[in-house]
Amino acid sequence: MRALTWHGKKDVRVDTVKDPEIVNPRDAIIKVTSTAICGSDLHLYDGVIPGMRQGDVLGHEFMGEVVEVGKGNTRLKKGDRVVVPFVIACGKCFFCEKQQYSACDNSNPADKADISELAYGYRMAGLFGYSHLTGGYAGGQAEYARVPFSDVGPVVIPDGMDDDEVLFLSDILPTGWMAAENCEIQEGDTVAVWGCGPVGLFAVQSALIMGAAQVIAIDHYPHRLELARKLGAQVINYNNAHVYEALIEMTGGIGPDAVIDAVGMESHGFALDNVYDYAKQMMMLESDRPHVLREAVYACRKGGRVSVPGVYGGFVDKFPVGAFMQKGLTLRTGQTHVQKYLPMLLEMIGEKKIDTTFLISHRLPLEQGPEGYRKFAFEQNETTKVVLKPEWEKSNG
Ligand SMILES: NC(=O)c1ccc[n+]([C@@H]2O[C@H](COP(=O)([O-])OP(=O)(O)OC[C@H]3O[C@@H](n4cnc5c(N)ncnc54)[C@H](O)[C@@H]3O)[C@@H](O)[C@H]2O)c1
Ligand SMILES: [Zn+2]
Ligand SMILES: [Zn+2]
Repeated sequence: MRALTWHGKKDVRVDTVKDPEIVNPRDAIIKVTSTAICGSDLHLYDGVIPGMRQGDVLGHEFMGEVVEVGKGNTRLKKGDRVVVPFVIACGKCFFCEKQQYSACDNSNPADKADISELAYGYRMAGLFGYSHLTGGYAGGQAEYARVPFSDVGPVVIPDGMDDDEVLFLSDILPTGWMAAENCEIQEGDTVAVWGCGPVGLFAVQSALIMGAAQVIAIDHYPHRLELARKLGAQVINYNNAHVYEALIEMTGGIGPDAVIDAVGMESHGFALDNVYDYAKQMMMLESDRPHVLREAVYACRKGGRVSVPGVYGGFVDKFPVGAFMQKGLTLRTGQTHVQKYLPMLLEMIGEKKIDTTFLISHRLPLEQGPEGYRKFAFEQNETTKVVLKPEWEKSNG
């Protein structure tokens, strides 16, 4: 089959690779109809996530048709249309029973001394197409994908709903939702969201649905800021304004009740601390650039909440632990427990309470995947989300 594969920094190719097969009784094979490129894939593209190997099949946001099921799968059948969560979870362990699916103890087969266990103390759940730290599973930016524990994760899509409406259930919609939920929004609250990429935009939409009185979105791309404004946010372009001062002014001097870092380890900008992080990251003295996290902690009101959907991988310098402790902030974060949110969010899409299709700027054949990565990485203003269609011929693009 054809699949997008990783070959190093800024080097993604379309290769012919071996078709996936059923390995375990609870597996299913999905014929992929739509798959998207995520901000998390850009961390792989930029080479800042360790544990990738030449030829690894990329992609963790995908959906399609079930073409084969293992004997142990009692839930899915051939022909079902499903969206697959990016987190692989067994559904039965201590963590899955608490609906903490991204902490599943059974889905990451990496060796005991694996780097994720060394870095985090415990090994995390398996993720599709996301390095050998998270199990080394082949991803879904391909014609077919093997889905382990397929009786737990995938949600069956009712007839009449388009791929475009439901694809983002695989990751970014639940991620934006969980980011807002982690803000514990109360009536009258102001929520500030750094990053107007797909995750930030869904966090804006979710925070408004959850009753935030004011949502303030921060980025530097005019088109992305415009999308946030259309959803109902006020916006700050950090190229033209001092973010902390603007937030103070917009919140009557109190500061936002909750702040969301929807940027993660690759903050842009030339703020002094970020330039310092760039230099340290280049010398491999620091793995992540946490400028946004610092700014968010600093700007958050006393006693407020900090929610971090943005991905961090390793260690950061100059975390403002004094501001964090002295102000009595609460921090909540994590890879999303996707499975927990799927039935509810699917229903909300069906009832038209949530719109997802506004986000898609490009639909391309899988063969043009490398071009999709390039656009999403280097033309971020206008490229808000790239969806790849493995069934399309190159000429359809
Ligand atoms: N927790 C999870 O389960 C989960 C799931 C999906 C994605 N993520 C992470 O969420 C983050 C966002 O993903 P995305 O798909 O929206 O990515 P994206 O790259 O499309 O968007 C990031 C946005 O942040 C903006 N930004 C950069 N520096 C900034 C700064 N200093 N201040 C304000 N904005 C700034 C960029 O301009 C860009 O618009 C990534 O780190 C991704 O890995 C986490
Ligand atoms: Zn993703
Ligand atoms: Zn589990």
